[in-house]
Amino acid sequence: LFNNVEAFPPDALFNIGQRYQKDSRDKKVDLGIGAYRDDNGKPWVLPSVKLSETKLHNDPSFNHEYMPILGFKKFTTGAGKVMFDTKFIEKESLSNRLISVQSVSGTGALHLAAKFLSTFLPGRKIYLSDPTWANHKAIFEGVNLITSTYPYWDPETKSLRFESFIQAIKDAKEGSVFVLHACAHNPTGLDPSKGQWKEIINEIKLKNHIVLFDSAYQGFASGSLVNDAFAVRLGVQELRNVAPVFVCQSFAKNVGMYGERVGCCHLVLPDTESNIKARDSVESQFAKIIRTEISTSPCYGAKIVATILEDPKLTAQWHEDMVTMSSRISLMRHKLRDFLVELKTPGNWDHIVEQCGMFSFTGLTPEMVERLEINHAVYMAKNGRASIAGLNEHNVRYTAEAIDEVVRH
Ligand code: LMR
Repeated sequence: LFNNVEAFPPDALFNIGQRYQKDSRDKKVDLGIGAYRDDNGKPWVLPSVKLSETKLHNDPSFNHEYMPILGFKKFTTGAGKVMFDTKFIEKESLSNRLISVQSVSGTGALHLAAKFLSTFLPGRKIYLSDPTWANHKAIFEGVNLITSTYPYWDPETKSLRFESFIQAIKDAKEGSVFVLHACAHNPTGLDPSKGQWKEIINEIKLKNHIVLFDSAYQGFASGSLVNDAFAVRLGVQELRNVAPVFVCQSFAKNVGMYGERVGCCHLVLPDTESNIKARDSVESQFAKIIRTEISTSPCYGAKIVATILEDPKLTAQWHEDMVTMSSRISLMRHKLRDFLVELKTPGNWDHIVEQCGMFSFTGLTPEMVERLEINHAVYMAKNGRASIAGLNEHNVRYTAEAIDEVVRH
């Protein structure tokens, strides 16, 4: 019956971790999956999360009942405020045109947006950055949407292909969908400047395109939620009377709850009477998708995040935790670059400190990456993406020496 079923290759990113686990060498470094590690290379449960869990478990009303289909209201409202903040919500009159539904982390939010688009706006091409997160294409194509790419990374100059990016926006058919990384672009760690964002959004506006922001690293690019929401808020503001804006928000990284799958899919409808009228019907269609696919969202992580967001002390601790993570990553970027300079490794390594977020797009070739793994037990994605969070005081010099060796080989 299943003779013709073709084998699907193992997931490129998750497979790195599996190979790393199996590696019995004493000295090994995992720069694969984008997950924060502390200075001993261990997963880090954020202090704000620990406090929130204690508070939750001490609450006599705590239980594991079903969530409503659209999600835990305290969480989705809180998530909306993290992304847009109260003043912005008021200023842009978002309250009657913002739909926020809980999702199975960022991937689930992307899937909800994709499913909604494929149902209600079929035929619109989805433009992804070249390169982009490995899962994007599969998520959109999985619901029969057609994807294409816009130029983003110039491997020669290790910078943004800004002019070509703008040209792609101009050339795309009116009303296409542009998937933009809200901050800390994955895999390149390279974000447009504020000025470039303004031009990007302006060109999008001129073509009535729909923007879908993937926001998986808010707080990781700069350590500040507000700074990292710059592009999203600009998009929502500028496209107010033009087109809907989707925001797919993940709390995997900034709350460090990767496995709890906490996320939110926001849809900001254009500020017109007909759209505002359609709000409840649109929301009900999200409920339909959720009910048929997962029934209701997982509750534990959403409760932890909601508890952090409603308690000012815990919120303050969370902000501190984000600074702890982003500044340790930044320190590791500098150490790695400085060691490579000290070793006189051929090439310029400044891009490592100029890039932001969890990743560095090192510029190492697939052959170099393979040699790193085979000869030095240093693991990273084949495209040269290194999760800087995997570096620490104990392995950064070793990693630099390994990179030096493969570059010179
Ligand atoms: C990554 O890019 O490493 C992370 O977003 C993890 C994942 O799900 O791929």
